[in-house]
Parts: sequence; structure tokens; C-alpha cells
Amino acid sequence: MLEKFERYPLTFGPTPIEKLDRLGKHLGGKVEIYAKREDCNSGLAFGGNKLRKLEYIVPDAIASKADTLVSIGGVQSNHTRMVAAVAAKIGMKCVLVQESWVPHEDAVYDRVGNILLSRVLGAEVCLVDEGFDIGIRRSWEQALDEVRSRDGRPYAIPAGASVHKYGGLGYVGFAEEVRAQEKLLGFAFDYVVVCTVTGSTQAGMVVGFAKDGRQRNVIGIDASATPVGTKAQVLQIARHTAELVNLGTAIVDDDVELLKQYAHPCYGIPSAETSDAIRLCARLEGIITDPVYEGKSMQGMIDLIQKGFFPEGSRVLYAHLGGAPAINGYGYTFRNG
Ligand SMILES: Cc1ncc(COP(=O)(O)O)c(C=O)c1O
Repeated sequence: MLEKFERYPLTFGPTPIEKLDRLGKHLGGKVEIYAKREDCNSGLAFGGNKLRKLEYIVPDAIASKADTLVSIGGVQSNHTRMVAAVAAKIGMKCVLVQESWVPHEDAVYDRVGNILLSRVLGAEVCLVDEGFDIGIRRSWEQALDEVRSRDGRPYAIPAGASVHKYGGLGYVGFAEEVRAQEKLLGFAFDYVVVCTVTGSTQAGMVVGFAKDGRQRNVIGIDASATPVGTKAQVLQIARHTAELVNLGTAIVDDDVELLKQYAHPCYGIPSAETSDAIRLCARLEGIITDPVYEGKSMQGMIDLIQKGFFPEGSRVLYAHLGGAPAINGYGYTFRNG
């Protein structure tokens, strides 16, 4: 589906799929749980889902003759860390707007984890006191103007690389990769569980799996706590991406399944249930999930399994999208483990 698009390799290749046997048994053994380890996809600054997206965006950035990547996210954004790493890798400068998206007061929140890594990677980090919003922000436009005023040539990458024209392509590739891995495994997955905030990860998957009619088996777990806007953004990106790849079938509202009940209390703050899911997955499988994103989708998958949402015998693929560095900003939450 992606042959006509230029791709700049930033990842190691297909990501491994592993069975989470101990978690599966702990949850009653009625469904098989697998994880696709997007968190282990690259040697660039701990990797994660943004690299698949950026592989299709970087050729456009290079062709534009830009010299500075400019992007935006929360203080502990994984996305901005990935943009900083990519800028270093391709020899560009990097300006990052980091907004106060999370009402979290851990004393070192703006010194550790992702933001620390972005600073070490040489990005110019600008802290801005604005609340959560996945849309286009004034602060980001100001950062672009600022680069221009210094005679720089900025290349704009929106939050989560999502509403970029090529933002959905990377996760179309994920679906194609899963299809190829299913052939080797000798079975197909019945469901894919994915964490959703800015939308292009799920949107790409929906388009990629629509090729064989499985788009409704992609179960999005909202972590934005603004599910109406997030679902609209997933749909919009999916429709645009479907056109880009000439999918040939329309993406309709019901193709996007987004469950909203695991995002509470708000973006970036884990509920007690989220923290418990993070501990459970870590202690049974040795896998780290974070309080902002994957902890919420892990919680969602665990709860859905416990409620019998997936029919007995289902094979569920948990997309582990990365994000572990952010857990460093939650030292107080996990002070007793
Ligand atoms: C670790 C992690 N998981 C999930 C997501 C959600 O992906 P998307 O923003 O494409 O919906 C993000 C980024 O926002 C992320 O960094």
C-alpha cells in the first residue's frame, strides 16, 4: 500500500511480536495475549511509535531544504523526544515547544525522562504555560516564526506527527507488517489494542487493516480524555490517508472504535487502576508501560479481558508504542513500587 511513498529508515525493521503468557494465564487463560514491541523499534533515543510516522515525513523535510525541525507536545512528550533524535540523526536543528498539558507537580517533572533526553539531544526546548489540546497551537506557530526571524528554514511537525499530510502512513505499514508476520506465525490476530491521543497511529492502523476488512478489530483506548475531538481527528486522518494510499473503500464513523473509559482522571495523570496495570504488566512480564499512554491501554486491555469483551479463544495483539521514559516524571506515584 505504501510503495509509491519515499521512506527514510529510522527503525531496525519489523518489530518483534511476543506472547505474554504469564499475563494471559493471570487473567484466566481464555484469550491469548501478544505484544508487538514498537517500543523496541529503533536505536534512536529509546524509540517508539513516532519513528514509523517520521520515516515518511523526513523525506519531505529534507526535500523542503529546511534546516530546523519544529514540533510541539507536553512537557513529557515522547514525540518531541523522537523529533529531537531524528533531527540529530539527519543533521538538522530542532526547536521544541513543550506545553503544560499535564496538571502534575512531581518536583523534577520538567527535568527528567523525555525532556531531559531532548535537551541532551541538543534540541532548543521552550517551556510554555498552556493546557492540553491536540489541535494546532499558537505557541507552535510562534516558534516557526521565531526560526524564520533568525533566517532559519523551519519544517513544521504537528503534535504527535498526526495532522501532517503523511502522518497516517507509518501505521498503514504496521498493518502490512502484521499481515506478513501472521503468515509466518500461521494464524491471524482477532484484535489489536492501541493507545490513542493525537490519532494517526490508530488512523493508520484502521486504513491498513481495512485492506482485508479488519478495521473494526482495532480497539482504540483513549488516553486524551477528550474523546470526541480525538475520534474526529482519527477519522479525519484515516480518510485522508485512505485517499493517499488509494484504499478504494470509504472509512466510516463505525470503523473507528475508541473506548473512552480508561483516560480518567485526565491526560497524563494515571488513575489507581492505571498504576495497578503498570505494576501488573511489569511484575508478570518485565515490560514497562508509562502512566500517560501505554499504562492506560494496558489497563484497558486487562479490563476488557476480565469483562469478557473478547470471545474465548481470541488472539489479542497489544501494540506497545513506547513511552517508558516518561515514568521518570512519576517518581512520587511509584515511590513504594
Ligand atoms: C507512547 C505513546 N503511546 C501512544 C501514543 C498515542 O499515539 P497517537 O498520538 O498517534 O494517537 C503516543 C503519542 O501520542 C505515545 O507517545
